[in-house]
Amino acid sequence: MKPFQPKTLALGLLAAFPALAAYAQVTPVSLIVDASHPGAVINKDVYAQFAEHLGSGIYGGMWVGPDSKIPNVRGWRKDVIGALRDLHVPLVRWPGGCFADEYHWRDGIGARDKRPVKVNTNWGGVPESNAVGTHEFFDLVDQIGADAYVNGNLGTGNPQEMSEWVEYMTSSGKSTLAELRARNGHPAPFKVKYFAIGNESWGCGGNMRPEYYVDLYRHWNSFLKAPHDLRPQMLASGGTGADTTWTNVLSRDLKGQTDAISFHYYTLPTGEWKVKGAATGFPESQWLSTMVNTLQMEKFIQSHTAVLDRNDPEKKIAFDVDEWGTWYDVEPGTNPGFLYQQNTLRDAVVAALNFNIFHEHADRVRMTAIAQMVNVLQAMILTDQDKMLLTPTYYAFQMYVPFQGATSLPVALANNTTYSVGGAGKSIPGISASAARGKDGKTYVALVNTNPHDATDVVLNVAGQNVGAVRGQVLTADAMDARNTFDRKDAVKPAPFSANASGGKLTIKVPAKAVMVLAVEG
Ligand code: AHR
Repeated sequence: MKPFQPKTLALGLLAAFPALAAYAQVTPVSLIVDASHPGAVINKDVYAQFAEHLGSGIYGGMWVGPDSKIPNVRGWRKDVIGALRDLHVPLVRWPGGCFADEYHWRDGIGARDKRPVKVNTNWGGVPESNAVGTHEFFDLVDQIGADAYVNGNLGTGNPQEMSEWVEYMTSSGKSTLAELRARNGHPAPFKVKYFAIGNESWGCGGNMRPEYYVDLYRHWNSFLKAPHDLRPQMLASGGTGADTTWTNVLSRDLKGQTDAISFHYYTLPTGEWKVKGAATGFPESQWLSTMVNTLQMEKFIQSHTAVLDRNDPEKKIAFDVDEWGTWYDVEPGTNPGFLYQQNTLRDAVVAALNFNIFHEHADRVRMTAIAQMVNVLQAMILTDQDKMLLTPTYYAFQMYVPFQGATSLPVALANNTTYSVGGAGKSIPGISASAARGKDGKTYVALVNTNPHDATDVVLNVAGQNVGAVRGQVLTADAMDARNTFDRKDAVKPAPFSANASGGKLTIKVPAKAVMVLAVEG
């Protein structure tokens, strides 16, 4: 869906519905949802998550092994998997990341006690037992109720190894590899929904130039032969940030060969990799800079999809942001290679701002994956031995579940507030909004208030629908860095929210630093 011009739409709607004019004029912020011009469907895979062999993201955080005292099903922890199942995680990306380009799939099949122990050179130099391999991963996604996104090794593998992995996973006919898979416990083919050739090939995946990557992609892809009905959607590993070179070369030279180009962008409070900023105890200037840096996602998607529109006007190639989220300095005292960070209300607001941006570009952005699922970067879940907590980011994902598979609806904000620190320097819009027609037929509205001090009144109108009430949830807290800890697991969690129209007008009081998702009732 093309983001429409709020002013033009607002004026158009006000002309068409003169009764709305009164609301827009008397309230500080007016939100008009145009239910009569539905846009693209928001692919549920926009809510995917990334699980890499990194720190305690998999080992300890999710996988404890079948002999562990921690309750588990075939090695996967019951508490964590239950929470992820409740979250309706649609898709899991595995095994990396940078890890993927050093991963050799044959190390991870067969009897676990016979698998080779390697070194995880990317993440802390720790031993990699290969206890979690292909079969364990597909068991994980089955237990969660998700689909699988497998990232292939272009960096240190070869076309034969990659082609045989695809055959091992997907072959249904008589083949040596299908028989090996059956002997390893899975006679039926696995369903690989997405498969990527390499990861960050401009960096940890091989320091390549895009032209070289494209040649490798075309060569290797020729040998990835899955049965027609089990063929994964193919991803080419794209660029990052403002530079559109990779998107341009890949979309120009991989037409008909790829279904998507991936894109990575992380939110760093300082914007500097050396000192990124702390996850907690940060100054307000870093609340603002985190929001400013996150909102760049809009600009990046616009510039990259403009390149795609030129090279691929039929919109056959998706633009999939398969790594995004906050990246802070690691928690003091933890292994710097494990990327373990706390998660606060700020992270929930960051997640919601990104969701609202992804919804606006639902026609091109058909899959995204937050980095990462458990104990790594902007995680849903943190664990400590047998303890587990749900982060504010978990709750943001949970609140947005109605947007999975929903049809995006145009929104127009008028008289929006702005937020800056001390009224000086950079400023950002106070309210961010998104709306969609859910699969249940209801209209859903998401609102984010980036201002950590002031609540904002938003008057809601839905063109083409009567608005009698809104009901849903709000996530907020007293402090910008409010968080859940193993002592106070419920410090930050959503609360019910409702508001009724009065005198034909419905005003939503959006608290400071808050995320809301509301269903509209007639
Ligand atoms: O998510 C952590 C790392 O960030 C991934 O392994 C890599 O792709 C990116 O640089």
